[in-house]
Amino acid sequence: MLEQSATIAANERDADQYFRLVLQAPRITPLIQPGQFAHVRILPLKDALLRRPFSIFQVKDNTFSILYKTVGKGTDVLSRMRAGEELSVIAPLGHGFTIPKAGGETPLLVAGGYGMAALFLLAQRSPQKGIVFVGGRRRVDILCEKDFAAIGWEVRVATEDGSHGEKGLVTQPLLAELGKKLPDRKVFACGPTPMLKAVGKIAEEHNLPCELSMDEPMCCGVGTCLACVIKVKTGDSWEYQRTCTEGPVFDSREIVWENA
Ligand SMILES: Cc1cc2nc3c(=O)[nH]c(=O)nc-3n(C[C@H](O)[C@H](O)[C@H](O)COP(=O)(O)OP(=O)(O)OC[C@H]3O[C@@H](n4cnc5c(N)ncnc54)[C@H](O)[C@@H]3O)c2cc1C
Ligand code: FES
Repeated sequence: MLEQSATIAANERDADQYFRLVLQAPRITPLIQPGQFAHVRILPLKDALLRRPFSIFQVKDNTFSILYKTVGKGTDVLSRMRAGEELSVIAPLGHGFTIPKAGGETPLLVAGGYGMAALFLLAQRSPQKGIVFVGGRRRVDILCEKDFAAIGWEVRVATEDGSHGEKGLVTQPLLAELGKKLPDRKVFACGPTPMLKAVGKIAEEHNLPCELSMDEPMCCGVGTCLACVIKVKTGDSWEYQRTCTEGPVFDSREIVWENA
């Protein structure tokens, strides 16, 4: 984990409210593992002290990129920053995904909205190709479809309004695939909490290993404030663990879902 000032190489609109930010960070890029995140201080923002967490999407030479959605004041200010401007970045942070082994289980990736960003590097670094199931409300929420296809992954799309791919939730094509009962598969997912909970349940019902990247609000990002804890099973009991340090990726069987 390093803190460094990173120069914006590009910050362009991908579609609708989504932007791709490319940062020059030569000391950070060699350390990045799939599923890790960057904690970004948006310097022109009034409350710039509070950093924002973003999954690391792609790594290329001495740059890494982030795929973000404008949802509030931080991401709005970020979307108006230009190449050449600086951000302060702490990265790579967190415990990421386990990279599948060659000849091992076939990976099934399940992504909702900007969760696709967290899964791309896993797909790229996995010697074992598989299927990525991408879901969103509308066609514009389906990100990175071409990026996954370009690295040889099969992509199955579901949108809630039916404007692209199958109409419905991303769990539908996942369930259809699991209905084939093929052996040796492992599920990896990132997206909104209700989707993660549903995917974890499906994996358990099909007796499949599953890793989930949890989306919890964060403050410090480095394990000191405890703003990001979730309940994790330990033997017959449970304990709080920090999604910024012990996570964001957890074995789905270890998560104690609130209101479950
Ligand atoms: C580990 C991790 C990885 C993430 N990766 C990405 C990513 O790759 N791309 C991306 O676009 N976003 C990602 N996020 C969410 C991102 O951090 C928030 O969208 C961002 O902090 C919002 O900042 P803001 O100042 O624009 O919004 P604020 O003004 O702070 O809040 C605006 C709205 O966004 C909601 N919000 C704030 N934080 C989150 C959150 N963590 N999850 C869901 N809603 C939130 C608030 O509840 C509020 O409704 C990630 C979050 C985590 C914890
Ligand atoms: S965000 Fe502070 S401990 Fe995780």
